[in-house]
Amino acid sequence: MITTAAISTIREHVKAWHTKGETVAFVPTMGNLHQGHITLVNEAKTRADHVVVSIFVNPMQFGPKEDLDGYPRTLEQDSEKLIAAGAELLFTPTPELIYPRGLAQQTFIEVPDIGDELCGASRPGHFRGVATIVAKLFNIVQPDMALFGRKDFQQLMIIKTMVEDLSMPIEVIGIDTIREASGLAMSSRNGYLTADEKHRAATLKRTIDDVINAVQHGQDHRQAIAQAEQQLKAAGFTPDYFELRSADTLRQANENDNHLVVIAAAYLGKARLIDNVSFSRHPK
Ligand code: PAF
Repeated sequence: MITTAAISTIREHVKAWHTKGETVAFVPTMGNLHQGHITLVNEAKTRADHVVVSIFVNPMQFGPKEDLDGYPRTLEQDSEKLIAAGAELLFTPTPELIYPRGLAQQTFIEVPDIGDELCGASRPGHFRGVATIVAKLFNIVQPDMALFGRKDFQQLMIIKTMVEDLSMPIEVIGIDTIREASGLAMSSRNGYLTADEKHRAATLKRTIDDVINAVQHGQDHRQAIAQAEQQLKAAGFTPDYFELRSADTLRQANENDNHLVVIAAAYLGKARLIDNVSFSRHPK
């Protein structure tokens, strides 16, 4: 695997592959790789001739009081995992290369409406930072396709919307969430949890499943969500949001929507955990 912090090196390789008519899949990450990321690389390998990965802890998507400084940086272990998974090219730019004029002077991309709700409401500016870095990385790498985890359901929808709105010639592919045996969605932020918190963290997925079960049995989702929030509080969480939405638009679900998503965020100890499960209201 070639590791480079230089845009020109990335461009040279991708251009050479494209000249030969070969396809390139891209997996953007912030590092501290876990099995969820490695699954994205494995999926990328099945869909394209070459896999490019980026590791960049993007300062633009962190709020002033968030965990930018403490975000785990584990490049050596990450590289080993990527080599084992068969990634060919790793891009590890510096913040100075990506934002040479500083964040305040950076041209940005903002996806309206869906970027302002849920995680966007709790983390103002977060999705502006995500959309801007992903657009920049797409322009640098120029892949044919890019893969993202469905754990970040709202992020995936924002990136798909951006690609469509700006006519970017890139296929955006969502890959199912990888979970611990307990049901806890894999996340770099799980590393902030103590052993006891990690045990309790599995409640998040369980409560999501309970709400889905209630909706599929025709029960009132508001009541089911209120119960879920009580259960989360009893397990030591501070819920941020817990909602039933349309899985196609992320708008508030109405009675005619069949393709739904239960989407939630909650604080536990030092971690802010997010999770979601999409489902059919009337399963066959
Ligand atoms: O999901 C992430 O790890 C990040 O938000 C992403 C897409 C790599 C952009 O920094």
